[in-house]
Amino acid sequence: MSDTYYITTPIYYVNDMPHVGHIYTTVMADVFARYQRMSGRRVYFLTGTDEHGQNVERAARRQGITPQELADRVVGRYHELWKTLSITHDDFIRTTDPRHHVGVEALIRRIAAADDLEMASHGGWYCASCEGFYTEKEIGDAKLCPTHDKPVEWHEEENLFFKLSRYQDRLLEWYRANPGCIQPESRYNEVVRFVEGGLKDLSVSRVSLRWGVPFPDHPDHVVYVWLDALSNYISALGFGSDDAGLYDTFWPATVHLVGKDILRFHCVYWPAFLMSAGLPLPETVFGHGWWMADEKKMSKSLGNVVRPEYLIARFGADALRYFLAREMTFGQDSSFSDRAFLERYNSDLANALGNAASRVTVMTRRSLDGRVPPPPAEGPLPAAAAETVTAYRHHMEAFEPHRALESVWALLADLDGYLQEQQPWKLAKDEAARPRLEAVLGSALETLRITSILIEPVMPTTAAALRTQLGADDLPADLDRGTAWSLRSGDGTLGDAGPLFPRVDVDTTMKELAMRDDAPKADTPAEAPADDRISIEKFFETQLKIGLVVEAERVPNSKKLMRIMVDLGEGPPRQLVAGIAERYAADDLVGRRIVVVANLKPAKLMGVESQGMLLAASVDGDPYLLFPDGDPPPGTPVR
Ligand code: MSP
Repeated sequence: MSDTYYITTPIYYVNDMPHVGHIYTTVMADVFARYQRMSGRRVYFLTGTDEHGQNVERAARRQGITPQELADRVVGRYHELWKTLSITHDDFIRTTDPRHHVGVEALIRRIAAADDLEMASHGGWYCASCEGFYTEKEIGDAKLCPTHDKPVEWHEEENLFFKLSRYQDRLLEWYRANPGCIQPESRYNEVVRFVEGGLKDLSVSRVSLRWGVPFPDHPDHVVYVWLDALSNYISALGFGSDDAGLYDTFWPATVHLVGKDILRFHCVYWPAFLMSAGLPLPETVFGHGWWMADEKKMSKSLGNVVRPEYLIARFGADALRYFLAREMTFGQDSSFSDRAFLERYNSDLANALGNAASRVTVMTRRSLDGRVPPPPAEGPLPAAAAETVTAYRHHMEAFEPHRALESVWALLADLDGYLQEQQPWKLAKDEAARPRLEAVLGSALETLRITSILIEPVMPTTAAALRTQLGADDLPADLDRGTAWSLRSGDGTLGDAGPLFPRVDVDTTMKELAMRDDAPKADTPAEAPADDRISIEKFFETQLKIGLVVEAERVPNSKKLMRIMVDLGEGPPRQLVAGIAERYAADDLVGRRIVVVANLKPAKLMGVESQGMLLAASVDGDPYLLFPDGDPPPGTPVR
């Protein structure tokens, strides 16, 4: 086994703030990265953001800001979130980083040198949300994207094509020779079937879009967002630059962790690009399942997302990390519901783990003055702990974190059974039974100490708190030495106490959770108060006024932005900048009345100050302006 371990997450689109489905991949990658570090391997863990493409361009337009501004905003949120979730990534790559462009260009030049690019005209059914094409069969008669349930669009342009069809046999050969290269097995079979069905050449440039990496030697084209995005796995390591030390050390990746929706990109396109460029292929692509809500994939476009912030603030990052790692059979779909979360929180964290720790430490404090007795070799727990460690390591290596945790909780059940049987609370009342009491508590404390090591990859904060409670801060915490029974000499004492996970009342907490604004619909009781309503006073804080457009012109160098001068009945006209130029001509607007938010703080769009905002309905990002009935004078309040 190599001593290096390179693990990656997909890079996240910046057209949405992160939801539970997004954080899942990164939390699981963090679990594996921490586990491998504790096993002594040199780990490199990469995550980042995918900032180009039509979706991001459209989302920015909807918000009246530039794609870069939108990206910066969302990236800031990702950084904060990874910090609160105790994510230990070594690097965060952004596809707008200059170092990334260097890597993309180097990869494309190698593909071009292999004569795998050609210019051709191209038309197909395109889903803007996936940024990918679908076949007639995949979209069915209703012509809906199979992932997003949204209508696909017919898209035609002259593009550079990657000769993917050349790679069908080599890909099939790679799959055959490396049965573990796509996991779990069901996904492997799915990909092999897809490739056996035949591969068409792939369009890898766009002319209809400006927001992307310029295509080397074709300045009118930008790089197709997936070729751009996939390159992040090597550009982040310095591929193509003068400083490619990380690339030399860590490439090929040990594992790309991805959701099943993006398997084809990672198991077909990515290895084919690498083959063409003559670069080594990743060892494994693992395709995990989806978090579902209301029986559909949790996703922004379906409007059923659970945001992580409230759960983290209320229960702690570790509780959420534990739930994600334990509830889902890694590789399959699972439902996210508040009830499932709370029930697991109570049964596994508050009861099985928290209670065991508190019972054993309280008894040790009371009857042994907090002194930790040396763990004896006798009794069932040493063997149970050793078996657990073996099973746990096996499951972690096999990408079965849920089963690894299951084995730890089975050890906690053994501990519970042992305490029921030995009844240390009775032994404590009998002076003659003191040696027995010490043996029982010594065994129990040692089991908890080993547990604290095993839960570390999933619950790092809790693991540290538990070790402090056990007075084990100074003992080795790596997997080899830390899980050996009998590390303690017998002169240790317990550290600070405190409940790890206070128990909650499920029904009351369900109601509390239903009031947060990201509650999944299925969990919201019918009688839940509609608390997202605002008072009339709050509404009147927004000053809406009729404005008369006196001048309008497109902002130079922008396809979408229009600069408009509006008379708001307050003296000289005000300047507004709005993303409406693709639907409205400047001449058609002059002389018309519109509705304006008059008390907004000014903002700059492409360097031009906007002193307000006009109102428009937004249909898939296209603006439909609101015009008043009749000719109310400029400045008339709208309410
Ligand atoms: N930008 C691309 C990935 C490029 S990688 C070279 C992308 N981004 S994404 O933001 O849409 O999704 C990122 C990851 O989040 C994917 O692995 C996706 O599967 C995962 N999830 C998004 N919603 C999810 C669920 N509801 N459940 C589990 N994971 C899902 O795709």
